[in-house]
Amino acid sequence: MILIIGATGLVGGLIARQLLQNRQDVRILVRPNSPYQPLVEAGAQPIFGDLKDPLSLAPALAGIDTVVSTATAGQRSGKDTIDSVDLAGNQNLIDAVARAGVQQFIFVSALGATPDSPVPLMRAKGMAEARLRDSGIGYSILALNGIMDVMLPWIVGGLARTGQPVTLVGEGRRRHSWVAAADVAAFAVAAIGHLAAMNQRLVIGGPEAVSWRDVVATYERVLGRPISVQTIAPGELLPNLPPVPGLADALSSVMAFLETFDSPIEMAETARTFGVRLTPLEGFVRQEMASAPSPRPDGLAHA
Ligand SMILES: NC(=O)c1ccc[n+]([C@@H]2O[C@H](COP(=O)([O-])OP(=O)(O)OC[C@H]3O[C@@H](n4cnc5c(N)ncnc54)[C@H](OP(=O)(O)O)[C@@H]3O)[C@@H](O)[C@H]2O)c1
Repeated sequence: MILIIGATGLVGGLIARQLLQNRQDVRILVRPNSPYQPLVEAGAQPIFGDLKDPLSLAPALAGIDTVVSTATAGQRSGKDTIDSVDLAGNQNLIDAVARAGVQQFIFVSALGATPDSPVPLMRAKGMAEARLRDSGIGYSILALNGIMDVMLPWIVGGLARTGQPVTLVGEGRRRHSWVAAADVAAFAVAAIGHLAAMNQRLVIGGPEAVSWRDVVATYERVLGRPISVQTIAPGELLPNLPPVPGLADALSSVMAFLETFDSPIEMAETARTFGVRLTPLEGFVRQEMASAPSPRPDGLAHA
């Protein structure tokens, strides 16, 4: 049986659904107030637990062969913080998995994760990666570049849809290999029991490295009209975001960070090895524009 932690989130939900479609036995570790019911209706077995509560983890791990964790507090608040979840919570989980005799732990991490990173989330992920590698558990670390579905609708798609100007931080010419969440899920599913994933850190990006200027041009092509672009300096706050506490700060600092480096990733061989057909940027944008506006964390729809 496969245990998924993070199944009520974007990537974990896609992984759970893919595994259920493949008729795998799936258990999901969830909190009572999380939206887990649709996955139960799709066939997942829920068990209550929390990464912050080490005692809740052993029962969830009973009878489990493979653990997949996409959990993060990156988009949560209150008691769920980078320190309590991504740092201490992941330590709790790795220690519990080591005691449980699990065969493979697939840990979804991030490209820039290192134990000495100045970015708290990257540092916490880097420390979790190091603990996992030292644990003796069979591991597969998926080190993701940015996920298209998370950033592109916020920065461009939601505004472009209604003809509002898009704001970029800096020149927007740094190139990054954005990856679709569905492709991340496909890699995670393919990594289960795959020899090429065993005790490996797999860097996962999309099929092409693109700048924010390329992203805007792609939305223009798909929408068939020009998008007005304004720029702000790193350190300034992005305008036109909903008044969710911390959102403008978080997105503005991520955008400023992305202006400090390029992150092209050569993905052809990894994609071939795991049989994943990577979604190109234009394919993602076409899907996004053809679908209903995506929900935002404050319950508003993208305008
Ligand atoms: N976004 C990007 O561009 C990017 C880039 C690189 C790496 N990543 C990584 O990709 C992974 C997946 O991201 P995502 O967008 O799918 O995340 P997400 O939608 O924010 O989902 C986070 C999940 O973690 C769970 N969680 C949070 N705190 C928990 C706790 N204390 N105990 C148990 N579960 C807890 C949440 O459960 P609840 O519903 O109960 O809160 C939710 O299911 C994350 O690890 C993220 O760091 C993302």
